[in-house]
Amino acid sequence: MNITNDKVTDFLNSYYKPLDKDLAELRAENEANNVPLILRETESILSILLKQLQPEHILEIGTAYGYSALFFAKALPNARITTIDRGPVMIPVATRNFESYPEGERIEFLKGDAVEMLDKLIEERKDDPYDFVFIDAGKSHYKEFFDRAEQLCRPGAFVVCDNILMRGWIVDRSYEGGKRHRTNIKYMKQFLDYINEREDLTVSMLSSGDGLALIKFNE
Ligand SMILES: C[S@@+](CC[C@H](N)C(=O)[O-])C[C@H]1O[C@@H](n2cnc3c(N)ncnc32)[C@H](O)[C@@H]1O
Repeated sequence: MNITNDKVTDFLNSYYKPLDKDLAELRAENEANNVPLILRETESILSILLKQLQPEHILEIGTAYGYSALFFAKALPNARITTIDRGPVMIPVATRNFESYPEGERIEFLKGDAVEMLDKLIEERKDDPYDFVFIDAGKSHYKEFFDRAEQLCRPGAFVVCDNILMRGWIVDRSYEGGKRHRTNIKYMKQFLDYINEREDLTVSMLSSGDGLALIKFNE
């Protein structure tokens, strides 16, 4: 199931401009290896948000090969980024990618399960809050990631959650895919209900890319 019309997406993507040559090459490498990375539409929305918000300290959950972390570092020349991944295939490639570019020096790479790493950060580092969070990892754990990220954020911080529409399956009751996927859909729906019900959050859900939730904490 498609969320958006393919022709419209292709048309909009024809206007996509990579931030620089490194990211263009990295995107091509990810795509050639079928490695998950932010879609062009998602990158475009993040670009304009980052320009406006100018966050200085970014937390990312879900590194993969490090594309989006490098994108944050290149888009914001003074920002510090913490990114978390546990994937044994992803970790060595992301490490190499971060070492290959000068921007990688501003990226802290935490290797392990995100819930465990976030609990550790809460214990050790509450005094260095984040002002922007990007959640792009295990789809059934967004609430666990979000609740922990909230404890690590300053008031007024901004959170972007990727893949909230799960290729449209979240709205298609006829879906009969694998059990794991159905579980992911169930937990994602619960997460969206949760953020929507919280009166203290400003939430906007977009159908761009694979669906994005933009969330702002109260000042
Ligand atoms: C969609 S990819 C991230 C793509 C990346 N943000 C980019 O755009 O370049 C999701 C990543 O989350 C990682 N992941 C999934 N669940 C995780 C968890 N519980 N803890 C840490 N990493 C996790 C996977 O290993 C995978 O590399």
